[in-house]
Amino acid sequence: MKAIKVNIKNVLGSISEADINNLDAVSVDAIEKLHKGSGLGNDFLGWLDLPSRTPTQEIDDIVTTANNLRANCEVVVAIGIGGSYLGAKAVIEALSDTFAAYRGSTPQVLFAGQNIGEDYLYELMDYLKGKKFGIVVISKSGTTTEPAIAFRLLKEQLEAQVGKAEAAKRIVAITDAKRGALRQLATEEGYKTFVIDDNVGGRFSVLSPVGLLPIAVAGYDIKALMQGALDMEKATATHSVDNIAEIYAKTRNALYRAGKKIEILVNYNPKLHFFAEWWKQLYGESEGKDHKGIFPASVDNSTDLHSMGQWIQDGERTIFETVISVEEQQHEVVIPSDEANLDGLNYIAGKRVDEVNKMAELGTRIAHVDGGVPNMRITIPALKEEYLGQLIYFFEKACGISGYILDVNPFNQPGVEDYKRNMFALLAKPGYEKETEAIKAKITE
Ligand code: PA5
Repeated sequence: MKAIKVNIKNVLGSISEADINNLDAVSVDAIEKLHKGSGLGNDFLGWLDLPSRTPTQEIDDIVTTANNLRANCEVVVAIGIGGSYLGAKAVIEALSDTFAAYRGSTPQVLFAGQNIGEDYLYELMDYLKGKKFGIVVISKSGTTTEPAIAFRLLKEQLEAQVGKAEAAKRIVAITDAKRGALRQLATEEGYKTFVIDDNVGGRFSVLSPVGLLPIAVAGYDIKALMQGALDMEKATATHSVDNIAEIYAKTRNALYRAGKKIEILVNYNPKLHFFAEWWKQLYGESEGKDHKGIFPASVDNSTDLHSMGQWIQDGERTIFETVISVEEQQHEVVIPSDEANLDGLNYIAGKRVDEVNKMAELGTRIAHVDGGVPNMRITIPALKEEYLGQLIYFFEKACGISGYILDVNPFNQPGVEDYKRNMFALLAKPGYEKETEAIKAKITE
C-alpha cells in the first residue's frame, strides 16, 4: 500500500532525538486517554473510529443523495462555517481541476455562510438567479449566525424560483439528531437530513456526512477517501515507534518546548491552500487555550517565497515548518527549448515543471534548515481520495495526541464564544440586554 510518510531528520539540528524520545511516556498516555476515553473532552471522541464504524448504508445514502443533487442542479451551495465548511472545501479544492469553473463543468459546488460579506452574498444570489440550484446546509448547532443568515436568504430565493415543494427536494440539512433550529425546520419542511453525531466536534467532522456529502456532490469518490482514512485509523491505533501520528505529535511538542512557538504548514501545490486552512482550524482550535499552544500558520510556495520567504529565512527564530510534499502530479508539462533563449531557461529545457518545483522545495528546505528553521516533511503519494483520507485521519489523530501532550482539552473551543457574545450584545439580540449595556461602555470609536 502506498502511504503518506513523515520525515523528521531535518529538525535534529535544533532539537535532539532525546528531546523527542523524552515525550514517549506522555505520548503513550495520550493514546491511552484517546482510546479509553479517560482524558479531557472525552465526550467528543466519536471521530476516532468514524472510518471503521460508519455503516456502508450511510455512505451509500450519501452517494445517492449527492447523485440526486448532481442530476438536478447546475449549482449546489454548501452552507456552513468552521468545521462545517473547511474539510469539504479542502478536499474538493485538492481534487478539482483548478479551472473547472471556467470549463462549465456541473454541478459547481459553491460555498456560503463562511463569512458575513454583504457583497459576497449579493453576488452569489445574483449569480444563482435563473439557475437550477440546490442547497446543502450544515450546522451542528443549527444556530450559528453566519450560515443561518446565508440559509435564510438562499432558501427564500430558491422557494421564489421553484416553489416551496420543489425547493424542499433540493435542500439537504446536516445537523444534530434531535436538537436545534435547523433540525426543527428540516422536520417541518420535510428536507432530507443527515446527522452529525453528538460526540463529533465540528473540526473533526470531515469524515462524517458534514464533509462527505459536499465532496460526493462535487463528484469525488468518498468510499476511497474513507478507505484511506480507515488504513490510517489502523496504522495509528496503538503506540509504537513507527506510529507517524505520534512521531509528528511528539516532534512538534518537543520543538514548542524548545521555543519554536509557530508552526508553518508549507505546500508546493496551490491545490493544498484550503487543506492548510482546514489544518489551521484543527490545530488552532484544539490547542490554543490556557494561554498555551503552537500558533498554526501556512504558506503556499513557491508563491509565498516571494512574499513571506524573507521573514521565514531571516526573521525571529521562533518558527518551524511542516512541509507537505506531493510525490506524483496528475499531469505532465515539459519546459520547451527556445532557440533565442533570451530568458536563459534552456538549461532546464526538457525537464518537467514538477522537477523544477521539487528543486525549489529542496533548495528552500536546505536554506531554511541552515537559517535555523527546523523542518518536518510529510510526503503524500498523490492528490487522490485515498491519500487525502490518510492525511486527514493522520492529522486528526496527531492533533488528539498533541493536545494531550500539551495538557489541554483538545476537543472544546470556549474562546470562540466571546466574539459571539459581543456581537449579539451589539446587535441587541433578545436575552442579551445586560451585555448590550455593558458593551456600550467599551465602545471608543
Ligand atoms: O470546530 C467547531 O466546533 C466550530 O468551528 C464549528 O465548526 C463552527 O462554529 C460551526 O458550528 P456549527 O456547525 O454548529 O454551525
